[in-house]
Amino acid sequence: MPDFVGAVDQGTTSTRFMIFDHDGGEVARYQLEHHQLLPRAGWVEHDPVEIWERTNSVMQNALRSGGLSPADLVAIGITNQRETTVIWDPRDGRPYYNAIVWQDTRTDTIASALERDGHGETIRRKAGLPPATYFSGGKIKWILENVDGVREAAEAGHALFGNTDAWVLWNLTGGPSGGIHATDVTNASRTMLMNLETLDWDDELLGIFGIPRAMLPVINPSSHPEAFGRARTSRPLRNPTPITGVLGDQQAATVGQVCFAPGEAKNTYGTGNFLVLNTGSELVRSSSGLLTTVAYQFGDDPVVYALEGSMAVTGSAVQWLRDQMKIIDDAPGSERLARTVEDNGGVYFVPAFSGLFAPYWRSDARGAIVGLTRYNTGGHLARATLEAICYQSRDVVEAMERDAGIHLDVLRVDGGVTDNELCMQIQADVLGVPVSRPVIAETTALGAAYAAGLATGFWRDTDELRSHWSESRRWEPQWSEEQRAEGYAGWKKAVERTLNWVPVD
Ligand SMILES: Nc1ncnc2c1ncn2[C@@H]1O[C@H](COP(=O)(O)OP(=O)(O)OP(=O)(O)O)[C@@H](O)[C@H]1O
Ligand SMILES: [Mg+2]
Repeated sequence: MPDFVGAVDQGTTSTRFMIFDHDGGEVARYQLEHHQLLPRAGWVEHDPVEIWERTNSVMQNALRSGGLSPADLVAIGITNQRETTVIWDPRDGRPYYNAIVWQDTRTDTIASALERDGHGETIRRKAGLPPATYFSGGKIKWILENVDGVREAAEAGHALFGNTDAWVLWNLTGGPSGGIHATDVTNASRTMLMNLETLDWDDELLGIFGIPRAMLPVINPSSHPEAFGRARTSRPLRNPTPITGVLGDQQAATVGQVCFAPGEAKNTYGTGNFLVLNTGSELVRSSSGLLTTVAYQFGDDPVVYALEGSMAVTGSAVQWLRDQMKIIDDAPGSERLARTVEDNGGVYFVPAFSGLFAPYWRSDARGAIVGLTRYNTGGHLARATLEAICYQSRDVVEAMERDAGIHLDVLRVDGGVTDNELCMQIQADVLGVPVSRPVIAETTALGAAYAAGLATGFWRDTDELRSHWSESRRWEPQWSEEQRAEGYAGWKKAVERTLNWVPVD
């Protein structure tokens, strides 16, 4: 009996392969970045072939670094950047166009036309999502309308759509020679094309977007012993490893943080921030700008729903300080620079680079730095960047408390930015609740491994997974109520300054 479970984490900036043991401990990992293609303002693309090659390479390298072979893996899980859209030809595996990434705003006119033509309500009711550039439906429509020959190919069954989970899965399971074209309910719930109640592609939604059903993958539960086929590309080819779990990255992190009970939530701080609240079997409709989405579905168990607050720009604002503003050399430099000042010195930075996501959903917003005086330094800008991550999270926490009628006693956090001690202290201060980080901070890959291992019986049940979770660090709020209220009022004022900046019609 093999002793380990592997997980592919195909993220926005990099692809990782991680191997975990029975206690959920990390045994090996390997990670490679891929290129961010920025052909025009607002456009963000990836090369799907590069992503597939890197996926293969990180799998081989992680196995080698752990001294393991595929035969040591009982199962593999896949997790991925969600919404990012790939369309390819199943005859030779060639993509028709680059992947259009979730952050890409080229479909803003498609999104506003959906609203104008009166489809907004249908999409909200059936898919749980507001029409926005973020989701896959508009990106598929854009490729069908703008890339020569794709619509005809799609109608003839020669064009397949997938998010990067399906793209990687199809390639891993044989590509043009029998590759499996499937996805899971969490990824499908981010397209604007899946009905949240039937958990199937919805004919009315497909009609609104003009998307042929034949392009779309089969929708499976997130964890299932037979649903996703076997990995055939890794050596040795005899004993191909079963792929038994697939989850979008934020849902995977929810599983990795063992948020299995209604009312449990996590906030992941990466390229963007994503706060996900488990709402159990209840489909909670948001009136405060959150998304209704699928948290996970394990085997034949009923589906579990979630409310999600998605923030497009958080850790990537730190990258912007590094790469574009060049006021820090690396991400940890944001903490060192921010510690040179005592507070934000009156400065607020609203990084609305892709418009504003939750809870505002304003594609007409653009970034702003406000409150500047001659007194301010780079330290204040760094501090304001960290505060922006925390204030966006507070906006979402407030929306969640309104929608779900719950009160968070503690915020469970994970992701790259949680290495920043100052940022986590500010988060506790801004929210007025403690912030808690687990020992295993790679919750995204861990969650995909959990889904895969549950399907094969490697782990018995979610109670066993719960026993793996333990806290590594906790931050307690230190600000007075007055400080908290004043700081937040400044943020709200700053957000207003970013609205109505670009025309979208
Ligand atoms: N010490 C730090 N302080 C502030 N930000 C940090 C720090 N370390 C990393 N980051 C930020 O965290 C992000 C990377 O985190 P992580 O690796 O969790 O990203 P990710 O979102 O999972 O990546 P992907 O989108 O590829 O999946 C980067 O945007 C980086 O700027
Ligand atoms: Mg990630």
